[in-house]
Amino acid sequence: MKLAFAIGVIVASGLLSQPVSSADTTVHPEQWPAVQWPLPQDAKIASRVQALMDRMSVEEKVGQMVQADLNSVTPDDVRRYHLGSVLAGGNSKPGGLPKAGVAQWQAAADAFWRASTDKSAGGQGIPVLFGIDAVHGHNNAVGATLFPQNSALGAMRDPALMEKIGAATAAEVRATGISWTFAPTLAVVRDDRWGRSYEGYSEDPSIVAAYSKAMVEGLQGKVGTPAFLDTMHAVATAKHFLGDGGTTNGKDQGSADISEADLRTIHGAGYPPAVAAGVQTVMASFSAWNGVKMHGNKALLTDVLKGRMDFGGFVVGDWNGHGQVPGCSNDDCAAAINAGVDMLMAPDSWRGLVENTVREVKAGQITTQRLDDAVRRILTVKVRSGLLDAGLPSAQPAARQASSIVGSPAHRDLARQAVRESLVLLKNNGGLLPLNPRSRILVTGDAADSISRQSGGWTLNWQGVGLTNADFPGAQSIWAGIKAQVDKAGGTAVLSTDGTFSEKPDVAVVVFGEEPYAEFQGDIPNLAYRPGDDHDLELLRALHARHIPVVAVFLSGRPLWVNRELNASDAFVAAWLPGSEGEGVADVLLRDAHGQIAHDFRGRLAYSWPRTATQTPLNLGQAGYDPLFAFGYGLTYATAHDLGVLSENSGVKGQLVQPGLFFDRGKAVAGMQDYLVGANGKRVPARVAPTHSDDGAVSIASVDFKAQEDARRLRWTQAHARFVLESGKALDLEREVNGDVMLALWVRAKPSSSSLRIGMNCGLGCEGMVNLAPTLASVPPDTWARIGIPLKCFRVAGTNMAKVMQPVVLEGGDSADIAVSRVWLGMDVDKVVDCPTH
Ligand code: BGC
Ligand code: BGC
Repeated sequence: MKLAFAIGVIVASGLLSQPVSSADTTVHPEQWPAVQWPLPQDAKIASRVQALMDRMSVEEKVGQMVQADLNSVTPDDVRRYHLGSVLAGGNSKPGGLPKAGVAQWQAAADAFWRASTDKSAGGQGIPVLFGIDAVHGHNNAVGATLFPQNSALGAMRDPALMEKIGAATAAEVRATGISWTFAPTLAVVRDDRWGRSYEGYSEDPSIVAAYSKAMVEGLQGKVGTPAFLDTMHAVATAKHFLGDGGTTNGKDQGSADISEADLRTIHGAGYPPAVAAGVQTVMASFSAWNGVKMHGNKALLTDVLKGRMDFGGFVVGDWNGHGQVPGCSNDDCAAAINAGVDMLMAPDSWRGLVENTVREVKAGQITTQRLDDAVRRILTVKVRSGLLDAGLPSAQPAARQASSIVGSPAHRDLARQAVRESLVLLKNNGGLLPLNPRSRILVTGDAADSISRQSGGWTLNWQGVGLTNADFPGAQSIWAGIKAQVDKAGGTAVLSTDGTFSEKPDVAVVVFGEEPYAEFQGDIPNLAYRPGDDHDLELLRALHARHIPVVAVFLSGRPLWVNRELNASDAFVAAWLPGSEGEGVADVLLRDAHGQIAHDFRGRLAYSWPRTATQTPLNLGQAGYDPLFAFGYGLTYATAHDLGVLSENSGVKGQLVQPGLFFDRGKAVAGMQDYLVGANGKRVPARVAPTHSDDGAVSIASVDFKAQEDARRLRWTQAHARFVLESGKALDLEREVNGDVMLALWVRAKPSSSSLRIGMNCGLGCEGMVNLAPTLASVPPDTWARIGIPLKCFRVAGTNMAKVMQPVVLEGGDSADIAVSRVWLGMDVDKVVDCPTH
């Protein structure tokens, strides 16, 4: 109460970044930095573009403005609709594969290139521009070098290394036949509850500005040099314009309710340097500024970006982002085009969008002038980047040398250097670090030998889930890196993920942290680390209790409240999400084989570290700034001093709940109520098991899954009875639907469960139910499995996903018999229910 009151007072007196009324959406372009586009009109390019446009029909022009996703488009569609671009979204791999390597990407790029240059359906044979999210290295390609995620890179303060990382990433992208990456992210992250915090370099605009130039020049090559957009470089995207890192409460795709001055000076900081470096594309943000969705914001997209900042490339939309503009849908949005979006990202909605846009051009709702401007911008980027003459993707220079480019030793060395430079030492009591590699070192924690955990989201798939070390050929876990160096020095390193050991170690290195996530799946209500699950803390404390010195290596995309874990460790390293080169951690933690310090810590916080879990937003320069570790903090071996015992009060009132979790270890989570509803419609609370519905049609009892009574068994004796989880407030799951998220259940079924439906309810007469029985029947009887139901299915079946009251409704036939342990929103499942999604 006291804290909330204090923040209220600060806000009211205007000491924090000033919140403004939602009416305040006037833009003053003349107040924004004027930039000079470094690529003045080139007569040769312009006449080539004009010659193409002179021959193009409206349909062909509109086709150039639409980008479809690999999962929802075929090469033949590209040929017939003259689509200008194809993207591979986070979960889209060639041929529907779960993951893809160099050969598969090249084959896909070739197939789309061939289709787009085939004039048999008419058209000019303009090659498609193929785009992908290479956001920490070429993270969708098996075997690629995975660089640390951006929040780690910010801690390095090393723009020169950033430029090299950009160049290496571009070469790996080109080696797979792809020539466009949706990077860099220039978000200035002001609230670390945002699930995309790790995609930003810093809370500080000056770091973002410096990195922006370096990264754009690394990816594209420097304007005016022969390297610029040559065969080893790629088209870059500055994203997400504008204010993505400034949304209220850090809500992904939310609204940045801030003054124009803050929008310009804080969030805008990365764009002038990107434009000055000749960035070829800018992606519009899903988010809004003071309630106005960026995809519909003409003043910012056109007047500021293309006008005042002189941006001469093209603006691409985000994943159906246009569909969120008032009056628009995913397949119809003249407003976004009129606001200045030149190419719409229409993953699954491209067909309707092409048809509707053609109609709107013909009806004059989109002027010919606007149409031509958009197409000219797109074609100019295509010509300038050499796409028209580059030929078959797999035959291009980088692709032909793919085996010596993708995951090459030189690129891995750069990544390992970045790991070393980005580690931030938060605590080193008694000078525990550096460790002697000739000692006996226990390496433990559930992330010690997990390349997936050290890589985070946007790794081989969107959420970075469901992966094992075998999915990362050539990569090294943190454990493997420590072991290699300890072995070389003649010490003993032992891996024990649960912390047990037979011979007492001299020291324990505990590697733990966040599970991978991406976008809104990572939004959290406060900065508590792993709410409701203290297994890491218990491990740290158990080692401590046995008088083993403890080094904590914390993997996270952002600062989190870890005071208890800090207290339970002697040394604590914020390792962020370091990527594929785990040995970079050993480089700094251990002395070398001769007992010397080869690499000291040099990482400094680019994000302020909170004192409590509720200290949000927390940014350098704010009034009353009182972080646990300030922006710029970072110990070295020369500067270390002891850290005292920290308060263990998180500041969170009530129970800590993980968002997107409805039912956990056999119980409804806080904020959810569970009921049994009889075939007669009467409800009884299901909380205290065993119990049964009023008419005995369905009963509930406790059973064991992984632990004692961590699941509930539901048995039906009559049809139409239900088990229901009801939320205290209506849930808006629209973002999750757009993102292909699923409702996931840890479940076990008896063979008698031949009739079972699952649904989401949105109030009286508002409900969508999906058949669960066939999928359950495909799992061996009495076997636990994670079943996922795409949220889209519930929408198709009738749920209003913006107002979900009961996110889980289970309705059995008269002999259904299942056990459920956990229900959540996620993507990591064993089986997916096959149901209509549109
Ligand atoms: C993200 C973008 C990304 C795009 C394509 C969107 O959901 O916001 O950053 O580039 O998907 O994967
Ligand atoms: C795609 C991502 C995209 C997201 C949009 C996912 O299904 O794979 O690329 O960013 O949806 O929210």
